[in-house]
Amino acid sequence: MSGKAWGGRFQKSAEQWVDEFGASIGFDQQLVTEDIEGSIAHVTMLGACNILTTEEVDAIKDGLQQLKVKADNNELEFKVENEDIHLNLEKMLTDLIGPVGGKLHTGRSRNDQVATDMHLFLKKRVVEVIELIEKFQAAIVEQAEDNVETLAPGYTHLQRAQPISFAHHLMTYFWMLERDKQRFTESVKRIDISPLGAGALAGTTFPIDRELSAKLMGFSAVYQNSIDAVSDRDFIVEFLSNSSLMMAHLSRFAEEIILWSTDEFKFIELDDAFSTGSSIMPQKKNPDMAELIRGKAGRTYGNLMGLLTVLKGIPLAYNKDMQEDKEGMFDTLHTVVGSLKIFEGMVRTMTVNKEILHKAVHNDFSNATELADYLATKGMPFREAHEVTGKLVFTCIQKGIYLLDLPLEEMQKESTLLEEDVYEVLAPVAAVQRRHSLGGTGFDQVKIQLAQAQALLK
Ligand code: ARG
Repeated sequence: MSGKAWGGRFQKSAEQWVDEFGASIGFDQQLVTEDIEGSIAHVTMLGACNILTTEEVDAIKDGLQQLKVKADNNELEFKVENEDIHLNLEKMLTDLIGPVGGKLHTGRSRNDQVATDMHLFLKKRVVEVIELIEKFQAAIVEQAEDNVETLAPGYTHLQRAQPISFAHHLMTYFWMLERDKQRFTESVKRIDISPLGAGALAGTTFPIDRELSAKLMGFSAVYQNSIDAVSDRDFIVEFLSNSSLMMAHLSRFAEEIILWSTDEFKFIELDDAFSTGSSIMPQKKNPDMAELIRGKAGRTYGNLMGLLTVLKGIPLAYNKDMQEDKEGMFDTLHTVVGSLKIFEGMVRTMTVNKEILHKAVHNDFSNATELADYLATKGMPFREAHEVTGKLVFTCIQKGIYLLDLPLEEMQKESTLLEEDVYEVLAPVAAVQRRHSLGGTGFDQVKIQLAQAQALLK
């Protein structure tokens, strides 16, 4: 006798420290609502299929309802000796309503039960994540709308490349998040499946109705193979993978926020509410939140690798290894929810230093492509135009000036195709405005992009 729900076959109990190692209640108590929800659906189905009597079903449902109220008020006291959320709740139920509580587990196993809980849990949480992504996207659009005509240096290799609209740069992150949102949305159809009724692995001899319990829980489908139902953790891997890719996007954005906040760039200033100071250097204003998000991408990749590795070698069907699917999932969920909320506030409240950006874009050679394009438009082969422009850039560097400061006579030494109107083309605003190609940085194109984004957010 071990005093366990499965103790009949045992002659002695494990020591407490062994129990503690095997227990999951420390973290799977986060599934309490879903476990009760699944049990109510299961017992309702048992009643509908005449497997339990109406009185039994009513008594069990009433008990579960009471436990739900206690759970909502944080009044349940979970015990390590009861191992996990499933056995803790079953014990509480029988303590509450007597031995009839033991009938709840008819025709089910903890294996289909835990899988059901995870499906129910993720289905709700993914919807919350999608909502947070949209809020963040709205904050990006808001900043972008304010900065359509704010000129900024565009970079490749972190070297000034071509002038762009700052809104265009910001909107890049909108589209990354749009794809993240699509991936999460698309994954729902693989979460929205009920494993309940698969039993331990082989199904059950009781005349259950899996479709009914699935419907009661709001699932759109049931697993067609009972072994697959209890062994599948793909939907969790997908969640961790979608989250990891999104965190990669957030981390790239965070990196830019950090760079832009430096004295060297000064393109933006973060709101005090999203910055921190130094305990020794009084002047410091650090972008800690952005740095943390960049850092937290690491743990989400770790959680993904962790679960893939747990799954890679386990034989069918359930193995206790699979209990390791939970902490990483809870952690990743916590991480993405926190990161999205912080990022939304950070972007919404940041100040864009339009003058500094304006100055930046006028003190560089990022208009050199314009000069080459100008010559190419006048018939010079682009390769030659590139060479001529390169020489003019070199002349400027030697003189310590920029292309716009170079007198026409100097320019014409390299090509007589260059005429007075070249200075209009060289203005950074023209460089941006003239890029009308679809998806380009031209103000008209950026406005089209913003309209599309608004439509997607509606
Ligand atoms: N706590 C377990 C888990 O999270 C529940 C399933 C236990 N099943 C079993 N056959 N031991 O995986």
